[in-house]
Amino acid sequence: MTRADPTIHATARSGRAAVKPATGAPPTGAPAIEAQPRSAAPAEPEVEPAVQPLLLHSLVELREIWLPLLAAADARSVVEIGSESGVTTSLLAASVRQRGEGTLVVVDPEPGVRPDPGDGLEVQIVAGYSPEALDGLAAADAYLVDGDHNYATVAAELAAIAHAADRDRRPAFPLVVLHDVEWPAGRRDQYYAPERIPAPHRRSYSWDEGVVVGVAGVVDGGFRGAGAFAWATSEGGPRNGVRTAIEDFLADRPELSLHVVPAIFGLGVIIDRGAPWAATVRELVEPWADNAVLGRLERNRIALYLRVLELQDEVTGLNRLRQRDWSKVDAERSALAERELVVLDRVAELERALGEERRTSDGLRADLAARAEHPGRPQLLRRR
Ligand SMILES: C[S@@+](CC[C@H](N)C(=O)[O-])C[C@H]1O[C@@H](n2cnc3c(N)ncnc32)[C@H](O)[C@@H]1O
Repeated sequence: MTRADPTIHATARSGRAAVKPATGAPPTGAPAIEAQPRSAAPAEPEVEPAVQPLLLHSLVELREIWLPLLAAADARSVVEIGSESGVTTSLLAASVRQRGEGTLVVVDPEPGVRPDPGDGLEVQIVAGYSPEALDGLAAADAYLVDGDHNYATVAAELAAIAHAADRDRRPAFPLVVLHDVEWPAGRRDQYYAPERIPAPHRRSYSWDEGVVVGVAGVVDGGFRGAGAFAWATSEGGPRNGVRTAIEDFLADRPELSLHVVPAIFGLGVIIDRGAPWAATVRELVEPWADNAVLGRLERNRIALYLRVLELQDEVTGLNRLRQRDWSKVDAERSALAERELVVLDRVAELERALGEERRTSDGLRADLAARAEHPGRPQLLRRR
């Protein structure tokens, strides 16, 4: 799923997965992976507690599922589409290295990490947009597809993968792992750059409105991209969403099967039944696929997340109201202060006048007293 976790500030375009480098490792932001035997569990990066970030959204969180599949398929050439912060790129680099030698191609307009080649690893970074960026690339053993999550892009990516496999006379369709095959992008297009999708293949979309479970339209609030991505304004129907694109692609390819892990926005795995690794990969993915417990946890996680967004929006609304009240109070305070200044000026003026009156009356009183004391002597009247 997208990094955009708008209100949690996933995030939204900063939502990097909360993976710390293992102690002592260089602070690259990528987990350090030790070389391991093929069947062993992948090295466990030091991951921060699950609330950091609040919304788990990266494929790195599903690594225990897809990394062993790459190993089982002996994937020596891997193409990653959509790398974002690069945490998955680093895992892939380590995974290919474990095979002894291989190639990692990273396709992303802004690749997060450029793994160093060497130790048997060749690296090709394609700073561009899929599916166009796939043109001319050699067919790979495996693909990790997590770029732009909409029907047009995913359909074209799968077609490009199939085309490369045919062109390069691959004996089997490659292992393809796709993210975001469940809610919210499974049945609803999400666009990082809608202007890149040809208008006839693009649905009407909104940058500002969000989505919630059970509502096919868009809503004020909900899960939204805060400028990082837009949602199609309706969910469901033909040619809408990542899962629909996969299903349409598989419709006339009975040799391919789709396995869906209902966790962290959904992981889809396409297996060619005829591939030599098919049985092993299927065995590995089956316990996770359509797993009822995972599905329940995911629905609960999303419901809780949406509730958090709702509460955050309420707080934001209340803060806005409070801000408005404070502005009013400030304006009234300024008006009162101005009136107080006017009153103080008037008081000072009156006090000055009173002082003068006092001085005059004191003078008159003194004159009168002098006259009373010397009645025959002419007195100069004090001028006021
Ligand atoms: C959801 S993020 C990938 C996250 C990463 N795979 C992970 O699990 O941590 C999507 C990435 O795809 C990139 N992207 C968007 N459109 C793309 C396209 N057409 N081709 C390739 N990458 C694209 C975005 O820049 C972003 O980095």
